[in-house]
Amino acid sequence: MNRLNELGADKGALYFKLPTSSDLEAIPQDPKNPLTFAKVELGKLLFHETALGTKPLIKDISYRSYTCATCHHAGAGFQVATRQSIGDGGAGFGNWGEDRRKSDFYREREIDVQMRKSPSILNSAFSKTVFWDGQFGAKGPNLGTEIEWREGSPSAVNHLGYDGIESQAIAAFDAHRLGLGEDFFSAYPEYIELFDAAFPNLTEDERYSDLSAALAIAAYERTLLTDQAPFQKWLNGDRKAMSKDEKKGALLFFGKAGCVSCHSSPSLGNIDFHALGMGELKGFDTYQTNGFKNERLGRGGFTRKTEDMYKFKTPQLYNLSNAAFFGHGATFTSIEEVIHYINRGVPQSEEIHLDQLSPLFRPLHLTSDEVDLLSLFLVKSLYDPNITRYLPLALPSNQPLIGSKSMLSRELK
Ligand code: HEC
Ligand code: HEC
Repeated sequence: MNRLNELGADKGALYFKLPTSSDLEAIPQDPKNPLTFAKVELGKLLFHETALGTKPLIKDISYRSYTCATCHHAGAGFQVATRQSIGDGGAGFGNWGEDRRKSDFYREREIDVQMRKSPSILNSAFSKTVFWDGQFGAKGPNLGTEIEWREGSPSAVNHLGYDGIESQAIAAFDAHRLGLGEDFFSAYPEYIELFDAAFPNLTEDERYSDLSAALAIAAYERTLLTDQAPFQKWLNGDRKAMSKDEKKGALLFFGKAGCVSCHSSPSLGNIDFHALGMGELKGFDTYQTNGFKNERLGRGGFTRKTEDMYKFKTPQLYNLSNAAFFGHGATFTSIEEVIHYINRGVPQSEEIHLDQLSPLFRPLHLTSDEVDLLSLFLVKSLYDPNITRYLPLALPSNQPLIGSKSMLSRELK
């Protein structure tokens, strides 16, 4: 507690406390997209609404069959269960996303895939800019990068002046072949009232639009907070919420192991970018991964600045055990493996020059017991067991709900 009090400056340990999702005023938000319950409720449905999949490459096969949750589902802690997420052009899902593959009807180059792992959307309210390279968001670290927001590139959306979450949601409609389409409101009239409640002050044209849909989704994303994790309960005064060993792990995280030098915001992520030399997406079950370049350069691929090369955004650390792959290139298969890697301080990537690595990435000389304790802290104390509270009960379109089962519940069966 003393250590946390020191770190949290004038707010003390409570600096690390996450708001609850119903306390809208306490959640960091974009003044251009203020949070309201009606907006969040609409966003919750749309984020899971496969009826948004209206611009697939092959209409007969994939029309209205994919959405945001296809690549960020609750069951995987709002990441994916596979190395690479597939939107349009994918088929299958399984209970937990593990069965999603390329559809036989699409050629490899036609499917919607990206060259980096989909990060978690949890606690994204604390990210001023988003994506592994932080390209979305008009403010914060992106002030001064305006020259890169080129017309025709996804980050051109930053010219609208929104924060990262909002900008990304707007851009994602085009990038992922999503949209309300012509007959959305006649096919699913229940949505009319929901849009009316969420955007009462807009004209009808503005209200029933992809832009409004994206802003509602962004509002919902901001409420995805892991405030029921044991570490959060402990911060709220429940000293029994964490075991002795978990507390030892926390002490290492916030002390000797130095994790908090980078994982320092309430989400235990940060808006800073660092080079840890992690490897790239390739191999089994990945698509279009031959020869890609820009994405490998991280922040530098966006800003084109030498000092940003190979640096990636510091991710949040809650509910990682819902996922199966870690690092921007999905090159790790357990949290423990990531911590061993950071402890060893030897880069995976063969192309990064040693002087481009973060000076904080160096052998930490933690014992294997200490690595276990750290891992326990991440796996257990930073695990909110009730993430499925963020799923809608049903969709107005009656389409099935993506991501309602988690890997953990699957393992426990
Ligand atoms: C085809 C799969 C796919 C679909 C569909 C998809 N995403 Fe993503 N998403 C990704 C991947 C991959 C990344 C990481 C991209 C990167 O950083 O290079 C990402 C990144 C993000 C991030 C950034 C998180 C962070 O902390 O940096 C947000 C927010 C997000 N997506 C929201 C959405 C929303 C909202 C939708 C629907 C409107 C959506 N995504 C649809 C795959 C997808
Ligand atoms: C120099 C800053 C820095 C330090 C110190 C640091 N991290 Fe990280 N961490 C990052 C960045 C940046 C990434 C993403 C790197 C990438 O994907 O290329 C990351 C990724 C991770 C991931 C993978 C998350 C995911 O979603 O894929 C875990 C787990 C993690 N760090 C835990 C730790 C722990 C535990 C410590 C302390 C032993 C630590 N980190 C120390 C910056 C740091």
